[in-house]
Amino acid sequence: MTVPDPATVTALLADFPDPETGRALGSMGQIVAVEAGPQAIAVTIGLTSHAAILRQATRARIEEQLRAAYPAIGRVTVTITDHDRPPGRLGQVGLEAKSVIAVGSGKGGVGKSTVAVSIAIGLARAGSRVGILDADVYGPSVPHLLGLSGRPEIDQGRIQPIRLAVGPHPMPVMSMGFLVPAGEAVVWRGPMLHGAISQMLRDTAWGPLDYLIIDMPPGTGDIALSLSQVLPLSGAVVVCTPQDVALLDATKAIAMFRKVQIPILGMVENMSFFLCPGCDKRYDIFGSGGARRTAAELDIPFLGEVPLQIAIREHGDAGRTVANYDDDRSGPFFQAICERLAGTLAAAHSARPPLPSLPVL
Ligand SMILES: Nc1ncnc2c1ncn2[C@@H]1O[C@H](COP(=O)(O)OP(=O)(O)OP(=O)(O)O)[C@@H](O)[C@H]1O
Ligand SMILES: [Mg+2]
Repeated sequence: MTVPDPATVTALLADFPDPETGRALGSMGQIVAVEAGPQAIAVTIGLTSHAAILRQATRARIEEQLRAAYPAIGRVTVTITDHDRPPGRLGQVGLEAKSVIAVGSGKGGVGKSTVAVSIAIGLARAGSRVGILDADVYGPSVPHLLGLSGRPEIDQGRIQPIRLAVGPHPMPVMSMGFLVPAGEAVVWRGPMLHGAISQMLRDTAWGPLDYLIIDMPPGTGDIALSLSQVLPLSGAVVVCTPQDVALLDATKAIAMFRKVQIPILGMVENMSFFLCPGCDKRYDIFGSGGARRTAAELDIPFLGEVPLQIAIREHGDAGRTVANYDDDRSGPFFQAICERLAGTLAAAHSARPPLPSLPVL
């Protein structure tokens, strides 16, 4: 029987991929401490806040790997500590963020904003630094979904975002809804639209972020084009419903993102099935599995499904989208989507060179 020693255990974990970058833990100084003897192994691994949602899964996989290597060992303890790796600055807007994710769809009303906001909340609850940009300047709904109001103040030439208390780092949120009185129509011309989006990105005091989640307006590619011109996006999440028409629209949305060189991170199927609040029975109102099949056909990851649930609509209307995580019939679905999304990003990071960071102009 092999008795583990610190050097062998360290070597065993050296190639384990960091859940943020996909690169070897051993190469990034993330194997912080290793104790090993005949009875027990204890390792301390440093992970970044970007990977916060993957901490439990990573801990479990490391433990599994150690147990597989030393089947006779008594105790295996894997402790995760914070590993600091600040973001660089992205694009001509100089945004300090590691991952910028657009949430879009081809069609209106499929639940983009609900999914975008819920992804942001899930990542923030886990401990990541997350911001939300509501890029729907025609019909901003993020303030409403989060129960936020007020007018952003200007401090030293920077717009102070409105912050939502969720997770350890209050989440900065920026939306045209904070700047234009509710119900007032604004006519946007192309260049103004581009200006508004770049200004919200550039002049908002976001602070360093792990993720900026962007809630996209329905349909046209104007905003996607603007975004792709001012900063490199990690990619887009496409939301659809199981109906055929919506799937066709989703295919169009995917083509639109691809046209402006924004990679597709995956598809989310919203309103997948109806969960009866009385009996917990599942009804496949629109048929099921459509998005999963389409994702497979298009060779893009399927990130998960969200049931059609009265409580999700109620929480949204009450400005308490956060409460979707306290509900067993919606929380686990959103949590799974966040975990798959973070996993997909790690895989994409390891396959691609790091995003270009430019100095602020
Ligand atoms: N899974 C769900 N179950 C029940 N209601 C939902 C679900 N997802 C979204 N809704 C509700 O559907 C409505 C539309 O959702 P949402 O605003 O997120 O869609 P959208 O795609 O962003 O719309 P738009 O195209 O107007 O931006 C909202 O009232 C929301 O609460
Ligand atoms: Mg919306």
